Amino acid sequence: MQLAIRGVGLSYGDRRVLSDIWFSLDPRERVLLLGPSGSGKSSLLNIICGLQTPDEGSVSVDGVSIGNNGDAVPKQHMGIIFQTLRLVSALTVRANLFLAQRLQTGSTDAAYVDATLDRLGIADRANARPCELSQGEAQRAAIARAVVVKPQILIADEPTSALDHANTESVAQLLIEAADEADATLLIATHDDRLKAHFARALSLQEGRIES
Ligand SMILES: Nc1ncnc2c1ncn2[C@@H]1O[C@H](COP(=O)(O)OP(=O)(O)OP(=O)(O)O)[C@@H](O)[C@H]1O
Ligand SMILES: [Mg+2]
Repeated sequence: MQLAIRGVGLSYGDRRVLSDIWFSLDPRERVLLLGPSGSGKSSLLNIICGLQTPDEGSVSVDGVSIGNNGDAVPKQHMGIIFQTLRLVSALTVRANLFLAQRLQTGSTDAAYVDATLDRLGIADRANARPCELSQGEAQRAAIARAVVVKPQILIADEPTSALDHANTESVAQLLIEAADEADATLLIATHDDRLKAHFARALSLQEGRIES
């Protein structure tokens, strides 16, 4: 899917966080959104996902503006890895993945759930609840939940912040493979320079503006 961000601006009260952001991502493109802490990465991703409304500008998916209504983007097309993960605490890891599949695609695929958990190295934690996971395991569970719906746009907010070098490498690889498999556009926000090696294009968010 093609994603276009046109003239997006955002303030919290009188504090300007994003100013005149323009960029577009081609179908199947893989792009990093780099920027220091507090530069507005999560705010921008929320706007792109339709979870937050910009003060100015618009976001469109395949030419259709998502306007003020995130539901205008077919939700089965988005896989989102939140910075704060947002796993459902009452459910096991496996049940979190099934729930996402059921809600977003209308059906479940146990073989793909198990294969994804295996590839992320958390198959042995499939029956654990989120509170029983290490931070890195929880992060991989959230990644698994986003990719099991085979999204057409895969968005990840700091997906490797809690991971060591080896897991960072495998998670970067997995996100790229998951995007390849689903023919998805991939956008990853991070301040982790280690991810740069995997991406041909990086956008830099500095003081609320994109410098590419
Ligand atoms: N709901 C809110 N109300 C007021 N200010 C906010 C709100 N959310 C974020 N901010 C402020 O907006 C700025 C950008 O926040 P944001 O979370 O988008 O940055 P970020 O680049 O994702 O940072 P990090 O790398 O630490 O996750 C920060 O200064 C933050 O304090
Ligand atoms: Mg953030």
